[in-house]
Amino acid sequence: MLGPAVVRGAPSQEQEGDRGMEPTRAEGHAALDIARDPVHVAIRGVRFSRGNRLIFRDVSCDFLRDRINVILGGSGSGKTTLLRMLGCLLRPAEGSICLDGALELTGLRLAEVRAYRRRVGMMFQGGALLDSMTVYDNVALPLREHSKLSEAEIRREVHEVFRSVELKDVDGLLPAELSGGMRKRAALARALILAPDLLLCDEPFSGLDPATLRVVEAMLVDVSRTRGVTMVIASHDVPSTFRMAHHMVLMVDGEAISGGPEVFRASRDPRVEAFFAGSRP
Ligand SMILES: Nc1ncnc2c1ncn2[C@@H]1O[C@H](COP(=O)(O)OP(=O)(O)OP(=O)(O)O)[C@@H](O)[C@H]1O
Ligand SMILES: [Mg+2]
Repeated sequence: MLGPAVVRGAPSQEQEGDRGMEPTRAEGHAALDIARDPVHVAIRGVRFSRGNRLIFRDVSCDFLRDRINVILGGSGSGKTTLLRMLGCLLRPAEGSICLDGALELTGLRLAEVRAYRRRVGMMFQGGALLDSMTVYDNVALPLREHSKLSEAEIRREVHEVFRSVELKDVDGLLPAELSGGMRKRAALARALILAPDLLLCDEPFSGLDPATLRVVEAMLVDVSRTRGVTMVIASHDVPSTFRMAHHMVLMVDGEAISGGPEVFRASRDPRVEAFFAGSRP
């Protein structure tokens, strides 16, 4: 099976033998960082169709543990589809999705899929908050369903997660009473409440004004730094991607191109150039 299509800076510095050396000639070189970061999820040779439309021809890429991984790509390129596969909500027809080199997602049975999903936080398009429930109850719900905590313990956990996404005095409000940015934060709080080790965020910045986008971005960076969670974020926003991503995956023509931001900044791959069309910082 083919390895992932990694965008490489020139010259390649990913040789095994380089890893033990002081990185004197390559300060900040993303390709070196990639070689060192542990892979959390490895996708290899994934093929997937919807009806007779081929969505993924041959997708191979890695997502790095405890890092911010951003998936970019045009509308309909398969970002949401890839997130759904990582969440075990969709299964590819062919190929492998492997966690920590050990757990093969494509082979899980239903009970195992349910157990796996409990360890994955999902913040999908549309927010996924239940409209008829208060913000507090929305965030408490996964704990009520999946833990044996008392109401007092649940209260402590919910307020702790509200603090980490900087939400205050929202307990009794309905989702419709929140601003767009607050709704994103409430959805993030809900995705984080079971302390997932993988957090999937679909378009966390959509519909936000530039100032609110920066607030939500800073919060995601802060959560990544303080909580030790592998984040996979599907986004359309190029500037924030280059500010926050440790690793990037570009979906194009049914394939994935991946690498660090520095490598993407310098890439002369025509598919990369066509996607960014001069928008790279
Ligand atoms: N439920 C579905 N049934 C049939 N086709 C689907 C379904 N969901 C997605 N598709 C198709 O799969 C392809 C990938 O869709 P996907 O939603 O993953 O793209 P995306 O990159 O997330 O797009 P966007 O940036 O607009 O959110 C598209 O061609 C889409 O039409
Ligand atoms: Mg999408």
